[in-house]
Formats: sequence, structure tokens, C-alpha cells
Amino acid sequence: MSEKDAGPSGKLWGGRFSESTDREVERFTQSVSFDRALWEQDIRGSRAHVAMLSRVNLLSTEEERKIQEGLTRIEQEIRDGVFPFRDEYEDIHMNIEMRLFELVGTPARKIHTARSRNDQVALDLRLYVIDRCREMGALLAEFVRVLIAQARQNRDLILPGYTHLQQAQPVSAGYYFMAHAERLLRDRKRFLDLDKNLDRSPLGAGALAGTTLPIDRLGVARELGFSGVTGNGLDTVSDRDFVVDFLHASVLLSVHLSGWAEEWILWSTREFGFVRIPDRYMTGSSMMPQKRNPDVLELIRGKTGRVVGHYVGMATILKGLPLSYNRDLQEDKEHLFDTADTVRQSVTIFLRIAGESVLDREGLARSFSGDALLATDMAEDLVLAGVPFREAHAIVGRIVAHCERQARPLASLTDDELRDFSPDFPSGYAASLTVENSVRRRNLPGGPAPDRVEERIREIEKELDKKP
Ligand code: ARG
Repeated sequence: MSEKDAGPSGKLWGGRFSESTDREVERFTQSVSFDRALWEQDIRGSRAHVAMLSRVNLLSTEEERKIQEGLTRIEQEIRDGVFPFRDEYEDIHMNIEMRLFELVGTPARKIHTARSRNDQVALDLRLYVIDRCREMGALLAEFVRVLIAQARQNRDLILPGYTHLQQAQPVSAGYYFMAHAERLLRDRKRFLDLDKNLDRSPLGAGALAGTTLPIDRLGVARELGFSGVTGNGLDTVSDRDFVVDFLHASVLLSVHLSGWAEEWILWSTREFGFVRIPDRYMTGSSMMPQKRNPDVLELIRGKTGRVVGHYVGMATILKGLPLSYNRDLQEDKEHLFDTADTVRQSVTIFLRIAGESVLDREGLARSFSGDALLATDMAEDLVLAGVPFREAHAIVGRIVAHCERQARPLASLTDDELRDFSPDFPSGYAASLTVENSVRRRNLPGGPAPDRVEERIREIEKELDKKP
């Protein structure tokens, strides 16, 4: 930029300054080392802004053409890894503007007409969050489809369902996989809803109070894919709610993945032996030759700490800010970028592990703690025979304790023995008690019966087929 524009500081804002910025201050205040991640959104925003400036005659068509060409070259330089990022130009916005001036000269001095970095960065961040939300929506849809395939493939395989990490009632593997699918569907919806909520363009809010120049806010908004513009500039330049929303959606997603990772870390142990995770997703020990460790799942669990930390960090940045823009807001970016990168990586790798691991039929069969998992079914059968539920619960409790003392499975009880506990058991009852029957009979909407699971899968498939 010319000395006339920049003054001795060499900055785009240097007109009123009489000396150059302290070098340590430059290093402290710069953000280009990380906000370069916004380059694509920044150029997209500038292109739309410049096209609008030309439509309202604040730029000539010739000036616009030159600027657009310069932006194309900058895009190419960044893609090729040859763009000269300089921290003395502070952030990605000024780096691009300075480079544009080097490339096209005078017209570049008009690109910032009727724009502040405050509305510019608000736009870039929104576009970034929109892009990441759509990407997460697509990735999570893929993940759910992987789970649907596993659910169908394992529809008749029975596993112990747990509460309190104690065996509770039998469920099918299909039901189990779809439980994780439901969580991920909610995560997906959170990202897609956020995308919909971000439908207003901040451009034109200026530094905080708009501009006197006759710009066309709505036109530039439409060009960028928004359906309208934000309603108050003072709010717009300080609004980072959507960053917190993105972090919140990411926290819940991470929490879901983390709990599941923990589950499969347990399930892949010799003690459980429920799931076989392929070697390509496991790691060895440098000392113990026999080891096969679930490091990937442990890292997915561990990275959740980082994501939760980013959420807390971001909320803490915002909590003491007076209206409107404050430089504290520059600290939003690393929380956002690292979170987006982390959840994308975790989901990408977990969906492959989930799809390619194999449930171990033998390990599962071995695990059933006798057939005490069927105790609830027994109590419900007594209810059908007219016994009040509390009484039925107590009767079956006594039966379970009796079998435990004698170290026998429930199914080995004879009709006579059962009648000692209650006259209401039908004859041949014990033999009808199987885990397969138990799952099949729990046949209400949302229940584990295979037909119900399939019914729910169809609903979900319809949902996934809809255009978001
Ligand atoms: N790099 C800054 C940020 O990310 C851009 C906005 C700077 N605005 C300002 N008035 N200093 O927040």
C-alpha cells in the first residue's frame, strides 16, 4: 500500500499513526497464522461484495474485473502454497487485501469500501460454520447408513442389554446399533438446524453502525446464498452465538462418540470378548509383544476433553464483553477450527471402525448370565395371568435367588418347582423362556422386536433421503 495510505506504520489502518508497531505487538496481535483457514470464505465474501459495489456504481466494471482477476490469482497462489502470508499484516483479511494491491494496484484500494473487518470476519466465520455444518451433516448421514447396514446384518443376533453396566434384558444387535444411530441422528439435526439458523448475512453491518454509502445488503446476501440480512449491526459484529452453537453440537457429538468408544474398549477386552476390531484400527505395544490396544478409540474418548475445553473457553471469552466488537473475539477462531477438525476426524475414523468391526457371536453367547435376563419377562407373564406387578416382581425375585443358590439356570425349573412359587405359571412355561422369544415379544413401537427395528430403520432412511 502506498505511504500516503499507510503512513510510516505500513498498516492499512496506519493513517493516523506516527511510528511503526512494536514487533512483539505484531506477533501478539496477529491471527493470520490460524485465520488463514478462512481464506476461501474470505475470497467468496469479497467477490460478492465487489460485484455489489460495481452494481451500485461505487466501482467501475473495469475496476471490478481487475479485482476479481486478482482474487482468482490469490486463490491460485494459496492453493499452490506460494501465497506470502505475513504476520505484520495481522490477519487473513489484510493479507489478502495487501496482496491484491501488489497484484492489481489502485483498484484494490477500493475493495474495502463500505466494509469493516468486523462485518467481514462475521461473514467469513458464518460461511465457515455453514460449510462445516453441511459437511458434518453429510458425514453423520454416512455414519448412520453404516449403522443401518450393521443393524440389518445382525438383526437376529442377541446381546445382553445393560443398565448400570449390569446385564438387564436381552436385545438384538440391530436394536443396539440403531441406538447409537439415534444419537448420531440428533447430532446431525443439531448441525443442520444451525445451518438453517445462519440464514442472514452480516455484510453491511460495517464496523458496528452500517454505512452512509448506498450499498445493496440484500443483493449481496442473496448472492452468498443467504435469504436475508441481520437486523442490527451493533449485535451483528459481536454475535458469536453460532460459534457456541457449533461447539455445543460438537460437544454432544463428542460425548456420544466418547461413551461409545469406552463401551467398545470394554467390549474388545478378553474379559468381554463381544467385538473384534480389525487390526488396521488397533496398535501394538513397543514392549509387550502380545498386546493389541484400542488406541484409536482411546484417542476419540480423549479428544472429547479438548472439545469440551473449547466450548468452555469460548463461552468464557464472551461472558465479559460489552457491545459490540472487541478484539477478544479474535480468540474465537482456534476454538472453532480445532473443534471442527477434531470432530471431523473422529467421526471419519469411527464410522469405519463401526462398520468394519465384527460382533463375536461366541463371546456374546458366553456372556449371558444364565437366563436371569428373562426375569422381567417372567414377571410380565404373571401379570398377564392376573398377578399384580409388584407381587409378580417379588415372586420372580425369590425364584432368581433360589436358582442362584442352587447355581441353576431359570430355564431348568420344572412346572412343579415354578408352582411352588406361584400357581399362576402355565404348564411348560420354563421351556418357553428363550432370549430370542423375549426379544421378539417386545413388539411395540420403539421396541427391540426385529420388525420394529426394521420399521424404525425405514423411517430413518426416508429422513436421510430427504434433501437437507
Ligand atoms: N482478525 C480480527 C478478528 O478475527 C478481524 C477483525 C478486526 N477488527 C478490528 N476492529 N480490529 O477478530
